[in-house]
Amino acid sequence: MDTSTSPPPQRIAILTSGGDAPGMNAALRAATSLILTRGLEAVGVRQGYRGLMGGDFMTLQPEHVARIIRDGGTFLGSARCLEFLSREGRDVARAQLAKAGIGGLIVIGGNGSLTGAKLLVDPDELGEQALQVIGVPASIDNDVGLTGMSIGVDTAMNTIVEACDRISDTASAHDRTFIVEVMGRDCGYLAMTAAVAAGADAVLFPEADKDAEGAVQTVVKAVQAARRRPGSNRRVLVIKAEGTGFPVDALKAQIDARLEALYPGHAAVETRVTVLGHVVRGGRPSAFDRLLASRLARVAVEALLEGQTARMAAWMQAGPIPPEVGQRSASDPYCWLVELDAVLAETGRMLDGSSPLVQWRKRVFEQIEDVLTLRVPEGA
Ligand code: F6P
Repeated sequence: MDTSTSPPPQRIAILTSGGDAPGMNAALRAATSLILTRGLEAVGVRQGYRGLMGGDFMTLQPEHVARIIRDGGTFLGSARCLEFLSREGRDVARAQLAKAGIGGLIVIGGNGSLTGAKLLVDPDELGEQALQVIGVPASIDNDVGLTGMSIGVDTAMNTIVEACDRISDTASAHDRTFIVEVMGRDCGYLAMTAAVAAGADAVLFPEADKDAEGAVQTVVKAVQAARRRPGSNRRVLVIKAEGTGFPVDALKAQIDARLEALYPGHAAVETRVTVLGHVVRGGRPSAFDRLLASRLARVAVEALLEGQTARMAAWMQAGPIPPEVGQRSASDPYCWLVELDAVLAETGRMLDGSSPLVQWRKRVFEQIEDVLTLRVPEGA
């Protein structure tokens, strides 16, 4: 959709919503600076959609964003706002925007936040109100469709890899098997990529469709491969995505029972579990996340000024984008502007496993399972 015949909005609001992601502050900084240098007014909305409904606005000045680029979290605050899922909630938010004379809104967040963004400017709900919305994908889970990366993913991946490197030291010293559980909601991207980067022996992720027994077998095979390896280091590192559907403690108990039967007595394999939890979501954004956030925010502001709406600024993606779904950004050749409808449809396919991208990831990890464990065929 395009409202290029209307004058560009003079007041542009920005909000961060859903689970925070490192780099959100960099996006806020870039968007604010660009809006102000264009001679327009920038308005920050505190606490995401909750603040939007409550009219919790602040005028943004350069000093608010001058020193935030290296900070994790989001200085505007964030929230998961269930009321915004209802038409009544969105009507309240639209009324607050109209009252404040805000004609453009940038929504920085993941899946749920982008769904809210799309509904906010749904023509059936919007009526005659002059309001444009552009989304910016930010979620450590990397589960937003039609963008190669979301803000926060790179930092989260680096945090996981650093934690796994540390765990590897102690695991090696004690010849232990560690299962490290990482965030990602229903998406296994962080677990998969971190497993490769951390040199893990196995990875358990929801897209693989393994049940608990399949997961136990994967870990036991990795332990057996490590025990057969020449040399003394028998550490085994397993990365498990939180979305696999089986609780990590129950999994450990099943693995322990299987290993005790295989390696009884003093040869028994010791296993430990570390759940990284929200540690993965915090911390200073990586240089890549700062850059990605700044570039996507710039593309989002430029899109608003060009009269675009109901779109998302996206980073390079795997496949071609049909013209009716999105176009390359005129201001950044690595970025795209894609219809929010199409983004949410692809996000749904990624979550139910029917997306070709997810199927490709699954196939690759089936092919490299033996490579991860450094398992060579018997007798080779
Ligand atoms: O979506 C980001 C995320 O950190 C997921 O990885 C995780 O499942 C969820 O949010 C945790 O949400 P909360 O912080 O509300 O417990």
